[in-house]
Amino acid sequence: MKVVATKTELKNLLDTFRKEGKSIALVPTMGALHEGHASLVRRAVAENDVTVVSVFVNPTQFNDKNDLQNYPRTLEADCTLLENVGADIVFAPAVEEMYPEEDTRCFSFAPLDTVMEGAFRPGHFNGVAQIVSKLFYAVEPDRSYFGEKDFQQLAIIREMVRQLAIPVEIVGCPIVRENDGLAMSSRNTLLSAEERERALTISRTLFKSLEYANSNSLAETKSFVENAINDTPGLQLEYYQIVDGDTLQEIAEWADCDYAVGCIALFCGKVRLIDNIVYKNNK
Ligand code: PAJ
Repeated sequence: MKVVATKTELKNLLDTFRKEGKSIALVPTMGALHEGHASLVRRAVAENDVTVVSVFVNPTQFNDKNDLQNYPRTLEADCTLLENVGADIVFAPAVEEMYPEEDTRCFSFAPLDTVMEGAFRPGHFNGVAQIVSKLFYAVEPDRSYFGEKDFQQLAIIREMVRQLAIPVEIVGCPIVRENDGLAMSSRNTLLSAEERERALTISRTLFKSLEYANSNSLAETKSFVENAINDTPGLQLEYYQIVDGDTLQEIAEWADCDYAVGCIALFCGKVRLIDNIVYKNNK
């Protein structure tokens, strides 16, 4: 496995592989890697000749300075994990390498980016689109892998690729959870033992709501989740929305679409967590 920090080194390596006709995969990450990231990399390795994993804490997608400062950075451990799962190239650039000048591009993915994370984290998806498009231009991958954990991000990346006509196949991968159900996240390491215990309410409630939804209306199911979170001390709900999985717009009745997904964001202490659950997918 090669670890490179510049676009030039990366391009030189990739040009050789491309001349040999090899397929190239990209898995973009912000590091502090866990089994969720590993599942994306394993799939990329299985489906492509060469797998590039980028490790870059992208400043432009953080709307909160403290969050950017506190974001865990563990490059050495990340490289060990990536070597073990068979990645070929780690691209770990410095901020100046990706942003030699200010990126003034403004994207619009309306209505996908005006709701949920887009509403609560202004500028977040613009920053994600800035960095992911730069990574696509630098790597020119045949396929790129993203987790359904960040459900809205995945929809927005698909839309960005469509708008910019970037020839890359976007592959969505299922959420990986801890044994007790908590969705894996780099931010979980920031939770105290007590907060970690409280955070369990999120996945437990979402799973319970699946059963509840069988015999209750959408509005009742939404309240069921909201109440369970609001009744747990230490958890502060930002939103729970049950949306059409394609348009990300809220639906009012189960019959309103074939693909219904519940998306949640909340604070557990000072740590912001997201999760989601699919109620139905008849597509
Ligand atoms: P990061 O949070 O590091 O996540 C990198 C990729 O791993 C994303 O596609 C995310 O959805 C996926 N992932 C994270 N936790 C997961 C889990 N528990 N199960 C499955 N997949 C999981 O998302 C980002 O970084 C950034 O926004 C990025 C796309 C790299 C742009 O900076």
